[in-house]
Amino acid sequence: MMKKKIAILPGDGIGPEIMAQAKKVLQAISEKFGYQFELKSGLIGAAAIHQTGEPLPESTLDLCLDADAVLLAAVGHPKFDDDPDARIRPEQGLLGLRKALDLYINIRPVKVYPVMSQFSSLKPEKLENVDLVIYRELSSGIYFGEKIERNETGYASDLCAYREEEIVRIARPAFEAARRRKHKVTLVDKANVLASSRLWRHTVSEIAEEFPDITYEKLYVDNAAMQLVLAPSQFDVILTGNMFGDILSDLSSVLGGSLGLLPSSSIGSRSSLFEPVHGSYPMAAGKDIANPMAMILSTMMMLESFGMHDAANEISIGIDFCIQNRIGTQDMQPLYEYTCSQMGDLISSIVLEGIEILNEKNLDSSISTII
Ligand code: IPM
Ligand code: MN
Repeated sequence: MMKKKIAILPGDGIGPEIMAQAKKVLQAISEKFGYQFELKSGLIGAAAIHQTGEPLPESTLDLCLDADAVLLAAVGHPKFDDDPDARIRPEQGLLGLRKALDLYINIRPVKVYPVMSQFSSLKPEKLENVDLVIYRELSSGIYFGEKIERNETGYASDLCAYREEEIVRIARPAFEAARRRKHKVTLVDKANVLASSRLWRHTVSEIAEEFPDITYEKLYVDNAAMQLVLAPSQFDVILTGNMFGDILSDLSSVLGGSLGLLPSSSIGSRSSLFEPVHGSYPMAAGKDIANPMAMILSTMMMLESFGMHDAANEISIGIDFCIQNRIGTQDMQPLYEYTCSQMGDLISSIVLEGIEILNEKNLDSSISTII
C-alpha cells in the first residue's frame, strides 16, 4: 500500500477554504484507491506572522523537509501590501520555502476549455488550440539576488544574477517536456539589454542542439507579452527566468477565462510543492465563494508526481465534467453556481461514485451527493 506524507500549508485569505476542499478530495481518493496520506498542517505567510512573528516558522520548514510533497494554498495579506516599509512580509514565507526546498522549476500549464472561452478577455477564435506550459525558474534571478533596501539617500537595488548550472537544470526538463507535447520551446528573455539574459541564450542554445527534434525559438519578453495576447496558440513550452515567468503566467492565466483554474507544480532537488497560480484573494476570504479548482488541480499534479495516475485521472474527469457542464463557483459565470465547499463535495463525490451520480435535478439544487 502506498503511503505519502504531505505537508499542508493553507496560508492566508481564501487559502484555508480551498485547502479544505483539496483535503476532502484526498480523503475520497484514499477511500477509493486505498492510498494512504499522512497530512500535517503548518503555518505560513500572514497567518504565521500573526501567530509566531515569522512568515516561515522553523516547525513549518521541518514539516516540509520531512514530507514527500508540500501542498500550499496561498499567502498574502492587504495589511502588508499597503505598507512598503514592513520588514516582515507574508511573501517571505513562500520565497524562503522555495529557497529552502531548492524548488528550481515552476511548471504552470495553461489550458483553455472551449466552454470557458466566452469569458476570456480575448476573442474565442484566438483561443482555439491554446495549450501551453510555462517553465519558470523559481529559485534564483532577481528574486534572490543581493538586495539593498531603501536607504537615507533614497536608493535601493535588486541584483538579477544567474549561473549557468541554474539555467541548465531547468532548460533540459523544458525540452524533455516539449518532446511529450507539441515539440516547441520558446526561450523568453531580454537579451538585447540584460547580461543575465545573454547567459540564458548562450546556455539554452547549446542545450537546444541536444534536441534536434524540438523547434527552438527565442523571444524578448516585451514581444512575448504581445504575442501571448495576439496569438497564444503559437506557444508550447515557454522557458524563462523567475520574474518574467511570474509576470507572463498571470498574463496567460486570463486566457482561460478564470484565474481560479490554474494549478502549478514546483520541482526541487529535495522535495516538490504544489500550489495554485492565483493569490490569497482577501476580499473573498470567509465567504465560501472562492474557486477551489486550481487547488484541486494542484493536488492532482501532486498525485501524478507520486505515480498515482489512476487517482489523478479521476480528479481530471471530475473537473472536466464540471467545467464542460458549466458547474462552478461564481468567478466562472457558471450555469450552476456552487459554493467553494459544495464544489469540493461534488468533486469528492465524483471521485468516489463516478459521474453517473449526477443528474439535472441534483445540479439545479446544488446538491452534490445523492447517496
Ligand atoms: C507567484 C506569486 C509569488 C511570486 C509571490 C506571492 C511572492 O506571485 O507565485 O506567482 O511572485 O512568485
Ligand atoms: Mn505571481
